[in-house]
Amino acid sequence: MARKLYRSTYFPLILLSFAWAFSGALSSKDAKCGRPIKASDTDRVQFAMNLEFLEAEFFLNGALGHGLDSITPYLAKGGPPPVGAEKANLDPVTQRIIEEFAYQEVGHLRAIYTEVGGIKRPLLNLSAQNFAHIMDEAVGKKLQPPFNPYRNSINYVLASYAVPYVGLVGYVGTIPYLSNFTAKGLIASLLGVESGQDAVLRALLYEKATQKVAPYNITVAEFTNKISMLRNRLANCGIKDEGVIVPRKLGAENRTTSNILSADSYSRSYSRTPQEIVRIVYGTGSESKPGGFYPHGANGRIAKSFLS
Ligand SMILES: *[C@@H]1O[C@H](CO)[C@@H](O)[C@H](O)[C@H]1NC(C)=O
Ligand SMILES: *[C@@H]1O[C@H](CO)[C@@H](O)[C@H](O)[C@H]1NC(C)=O
Ligand SMILES: *[C@@H]1O[C@H](CO)[C@@H](O)[C@H](O)[C@H]1NC(C)=O
Ligand SMILES: *[C@@H]1O[C@H](CO)[C@@H](O)[C@H](O)[C@H]1NC(C)=O
Repeated sequence: MARKLYRSTYFPLILLSFAWAFSGALSSKDAKCGRPIKASDTDRVQFAMNLEFLEAEFFLNGALGHGLDSITPYLAKGGPPPVGAEKANLDPVTQRIIEEFAYQEVGHLRAIYTEVGGIKRPLLNLSAQNFAHIMDEAVGKKLQPPFNPYRNSINYVLASYAVPYVGLVGYVGTIPYLSNFTAKGLIASLLGVESGQDAVLRALLYEKATQKVAPYNITVAEFTNKISMLRNRLANCGIKDEGVIVPRKLGAENRTTSNILSADSYSRSYSRTPQEIVRIVYGTGSESKPGGFYPHGANGRIAKSFLS
């Protein structure tokens, strides 16, 4: 099975191999990955709320057809509701998973709000058109018909592939900079659950890795590789994101082509700086150019400091 999977994803894997070969140069700890920032623990924890809002709104709307404003409106702190979010057409198992994740994100927002105080919910673009645009960027051509994340379970899980993972690598990058015991405990406990969510989504995708994502001639594994490569390009800091099928040299101990969890050569989680995170979620490759999921940029002191 592994061999067959490998062949069906051969072309993107070659590209990935090239990217990997050059990643030594890319990943040098220079300004590329984002200069170290001066920020309080509160700023760092609040920065994470931007991603928690994205996850909460995408999962709540996808599973229930309504968002944070109908569950815990105070958490939004008067920030605008997202645009374009829809109820997704999900099979019963996916529906259960996404609904549970949705409520977990509400809990995460509540945890941060209670611990350090919240920030305003940023404007979020969760329209099918925005996801279609991201997928077009990832595959390098205009998909016809346009990719719609809300159409069915596989599309929704592929769209979700992006979401907890970016939060997860952000949390891994945050913890070493925190000085306060309470803040460290909080972020570690959020990281645990984000990783779990990411693992579940990736396992669902791996199960269908060789299937085509109808009506496109692109398999699930190819989509994951292409989305991951797009994120690596946008973040501009080497390979920190890998699809569910990879060349052996990116697999665990160089011995697997399955890549159900994305990890480095020691099977440690990758980490990203706040700059890398917003370059990805803005879809612009620049921490000072809002766009993508955040048409007006992210909120809180750290994200705002990149915009000025
Ligand atoms: C850590 O942060 C919490 C929440 O902001 C605060 O209540 C606590 O006093 C801080 N502890 C230290 C040692 O700074
Ligand atoms: C959301 O994204 C779509 C696709 O890029 C765009 O057409 C639309 O104007 C965006 N909406 C907002 C409010 O930025
Ligand atoms: C689908 O893609 C495969 C390779 O990825 C190619 O061999 C095949 O010709 C394509 N089929 C169509 C209908 O485009
Ligand atoms: C896996 O291969 C990479 C080079 O591709 C090498 O740097 C690394 O040490 C190898 N890991 C193991 C466990 O052999």
